[in-house]
Amino acid sequence: MKKMLAVLVALIMALGLCSFAVAEDVITVGFAQVGHESDWRAANTNDYQSTFTAENGFELSFVDADNDHAVQLEAVRTFIQQEMDYIVVCPVQEAGWETVLGEAQEAGIPVIIADRSVSADPSLYTSQVCTNMVLEGEAAGNWLAENLAGTEANILVIEGSVGASATLGRTEGFNNIAKDHAEWKVLDVQSGDFTQAGGQEVMESFIKTYNGQFNVVVCQNDNEAYGAMDAMDAAGITYGVGGDVILISYDATHDGLKYTLDGKINCNVECNPMQATTVMELIKKIQAGEAYDAMTVVPDQAFCAPGITSAYATTLTEEIWAARPY
Ligand code: AHR
Repeated sequence: MKKMLAVLVALIMALGLCSFAVAEDVITVGFAQVGHESDWRAANTNDYQSTFTAENGFELSFVDADNDHAVQLEAVRTFIQQEMDYIVVCPVQEAGWETVLGEAQEAGIPVIIADRSVSADPSLYTSQVCTNMVLEGEAAGNWLAENLAGTEANILVIEGSVGASATLGRTEGFNNIAKDHAEWKVLDVQSGDFTQAGGQEVMESFIKTYNGQFNVVVCQNDNEAYGAMDAMDAAGITYGVGGDVILISYDATHDGLKYTLDGKINCNVECNPMQATTVMELIKKIQAGEAYDAMTVVPDQAFCAPGITSAYATTLTEEIWAARPY
């Protein structure tokens, strides 16, 4: 409908039947976001909403899928019906995208997969902008190996949402390192769903089963780490620099890095949420008919608490923390 109207307006203008100036076409973008489960997600959403603005020539339609794959599929189908110019998806889960991506392709709407990955064949979508979750997991594993220097580790892992590529990638990366350390034992792995409540609940149940038996806790995002810290505080378990438990987190968001600066989190592996400008530049290239990359990896880095030096992580200082954009 929108495209028919545009053709009609162009025809009227060409025939000189109308003399008013038409504003340059805005680019419509349907954005299917995972949800609002974490501080990282809030930063990512804000980044999109402050980048895809009318001033920049965009109209953004935002859907929060509340971590529900079916809701996200429905959002994409609605964007197709609305004839959006572009669709951006941060996928809740990696699997199950083939059919709807085929439908978008059929409708001629470019789809950009952002933040996380899908298992669907790349020929079904236009491009991907993401961080490398496997490398993030390897950074955490490498930092731990360096820090422990051959001493024993009894590890509890609070994973992210089941089936999310962020979870699968970080687990794969960490396990790539763990497999070479016979002195490491992963006692248990459970999902905390990338939320603070989930992290606390899992940690409370871990403490019931493994109290006194573990010396490393890996949380796959900062919010889970906050929940795990609350649970350990309540149980009188010390963690962080000089504590009984080494605490590793991912995301390196504002508050997560403050805990790292304060020595409560030993190592925090960044996952960069500032991806909207990269997606916008990509869309501009596609619009202009220019060549573009099939995949753009947004770089990130790891940080460790003051007093720790590492080949795998930057030692955090007040200045580095204060200068962070999120
Ligand atoms: O996909 C990125 C992950 O999803 C972040 O680690 C987490 O905080 C978020 O919810």
